[in-house]
Amino acid sequence: MKSLENPIGVFDSGVGGLSVLRAMREQMPNESVIYFGDQGHVPYGPRSMEEIQKFSEGITRFLLEQNSKLIVVACNTASAAALKYLRGRFPDVPFVGMEPAVKPAAETTKTGKVGVLATPATFQGALYASVVERFGAGVELFQHTCPGLVGQIENGELDSMSTRRILEDALTPMLEKNIDTVVLGCTHYPFVIPLIQEIAGEYVRVIDPAPAVSRQVRRLLEAKGLLNEAGETGYTEFFTSGDSAAMEMLLPKLLGVGGDVQTVNWVNELEIILR
Ligand code: DGL
Repeated sequence: MKSLENPIGVFDSGVGGLSVLRAMREQMPNESVIYFGDQGHVPYGPRSMEEIQKFSEGITRFLLEQNSKLIVVACNTASAAALKYLRGRFPDVPFVGMEPAVKPAAETTKTGKVGVLATPATFQGALYASVVERFGAGVELFQHTCPGLVGQIENGELDSMSTRRILEDALTPMLEKNIDTVVLGCTHYPFVIPLIQEIAGEYVRVIDPAPAVSRQVRRLLEAKGLLNEAGETGYTEFFTSGDSAAMEMLLPKLLGVGGDVQTVNWVNELEIILR
């Protein structure tokens, strides 16, 4: 039986999901979170649906063993490849996933031309096709997979020349087509918004879906009577299947957690796959 004091489970292929965690902490400071970055397998973008489903299932089992009351698939690639699969495997568990924010982009663009940055697996998934079909009418979408950008962000290179070059290769052709909106279809990408905005210019709107996803988490918790609004601030526990020391070094840069050093626990990736 889940209780409202239980934590929320959040996972991504790596540190990308921390952009959703950041929004959740702002909107629901009383909630506790168990965060899992599957850095032993990042990037997910080039992987098969079956592999991503296997990883996502093992991580979900791990998060449920930590008494998570709801699971946030804070990864567009895993949402595209595994969200429907997870809901079938865990019918009693509430899930919230990611969806490229084509709808708000289509509603606000003035030029009718919108750029979408996401991974190959996200673009290939049925979820993206459905989003485009439902909300993309009347706008011209320009897609780019930004090869290597996830790895740059995993290495903490948020404004290096090589990161800039990846973004210029993606954005320049779109800007020449007169886009006025960029949709971030990968949870890693909000960490390079300053660089994207610098390249695109101040008149191009960059849409980070994290705040909207956090509002959806809150709505679902409220609907299930699981929203924790007790006085004290919630805790966050971090887990990775990759290099825990490297993630510990990166957290202050990504989350701005001030002085308090966060410990990252290591989980053997085989423990995840074999769950
Ligand atoms: N951050 C994830 C996403 O939103 C996955 C990126 C990857 O591992 O390729 O798609």
